[in-house]
Amino acid sequence: MPEIILKNVTKRFGKFVAVDNLNLVIENNAFITLLGPSGCGKTTTLRMIAGLETPTEGSISIDGKVVFDADQGINLPPNKRDVGFLFQNYALWPHMTVYQNIAFGLENLKWDKKRIADRVHELLGMLRIEQFEKRYPSELSGGQQQRVAIARTLAPGPKVLFMDEPLSNLDAKLRMEMRTELKRLHRDTDSTFVYVTHDQLEAMTLSTRVCIMDTGVLQQYVPPLEMYANPANLFVADFMGNPTMNFIDGTADVKGNTAEVTFGGLKGSFAADASIALSGKEVVVGIRPEYIRIDDDGAMEAAVYSTLPSGMETTVRLNVNGTQLTAVVFGDVDYPVDSKVRFDLTKTAILFDKATGKNVARGTLKLL
Ligand SMILES: Nc1ncnc2c1ncn2[C@@H]1O[C@H](COP(=O)(O)OP(=O)(O)O)[C@@H](O)[C@H]1O
Ligand SMILES: [Mg+2]
Repeated sequence: MPEIILKNVTKRFGKFVAVDNLNLVIENNAFITLLGPSGCGKTTTLRMIAGLETPTEGSISIDGKVVFDADQGINLPPNKRDVGFLFQNYALWPHMTVYQNIAFGLENLKWDKKRIADRVHELLGMLRIEQFEKRYPSELSGGQQQRVAIARTLAPGPKVLFMDEPLSNLDAKLRMEMRTELKRLHRDTDSTFVYVTHDQLEAMTLSTRVCIMDTGVLQQYVPPLEMYANPANLFVADFMGNPTMNFIDGTADVKGNTAEVTFGGLKGSFAADASIALSGKEVVVGIRPEYIRIDDDGAMEAAVYSTLPSGMETTVRLNVNGTQLTAVVFGDVDYPVDSKVRFDLTKTAILFDKATGKNVARGTLKLL
């Protein structure tokens, strides 16, 4: 059971805190992404779990075995942690064939020839690169090389596979295809995947759970759709989703589970499932663009400020009493600029406490 547990893990470089008291349980067989902007501590976290970086404080265990403990002076080297790596720059050995590249690590582990051949062929099949067995890396496309690199990493059957932005060198189309492959691969192996990315869409689509960080501090650690629907704070809400959530400053009069909200020239009544705990009156109202439904029978009127039709969907910027709202409409629709449309708010809105940035309630918002 390669469960990974981080307890109070901190990494300082001099006085600078790169990772701040991180507590994390990565379940067996999970596909975790470490997500956040550049410099937030993703790579440092990954490297600490892998044994490539020594934490300043805390402890880490993999599969029930303590691999690092600052107080007890335990620090196992990477090769004793039964883990595999796939980094952004996955240099294949240019003078070796695809077969040899994948077999090389197994030869070092002193596997016998037959076992190596069986394992290499299994991986060639799994990654659908059988036909390239005898080719050299220079005779392969970027995507094919990437598959060889993945096969090479998977060859010894690591219990945990670490990937640090492995797709960022690929073009958009190939990246999409490799995401699909990685997800299948996760199902086809028994490994736990720990994946670093700054791309929210990658985290959304790939992982079983997202660990989102900002300046070394964990912000939220939940399944991606849950993070999308109920972001813990303004940072997470803004980071997840494209186009981004609408954020409108306002004030709220709270009565138990409900609040009268005044925001950006609009008034609404907000209803949540639980009582709303606000520190003051100042709020930020968060509304996902796809929860604004444009329809002739909508209760509210708006003027179309701009539209961005992409064929599959159209992003519409609305002007409502001087407040701009972004809406997304599915399908190949378009609206003339400055025309009047009607709309409703559907599904949910989020109330954030402006003072703390925290999500204080998720509920329905009815415009008055
Ligand atoms: N060896 C190092 N010495 C000093 N600072 C470092 C070192 N490695 C990383 N950092 C700093 O720690 C922070 C987190 O880095 P990193 O984990 O690489 O971020 P990410 O992978 O999220 O972009 C950054 O501000 C970076 O500059
Ligand atoms: Mg990094």
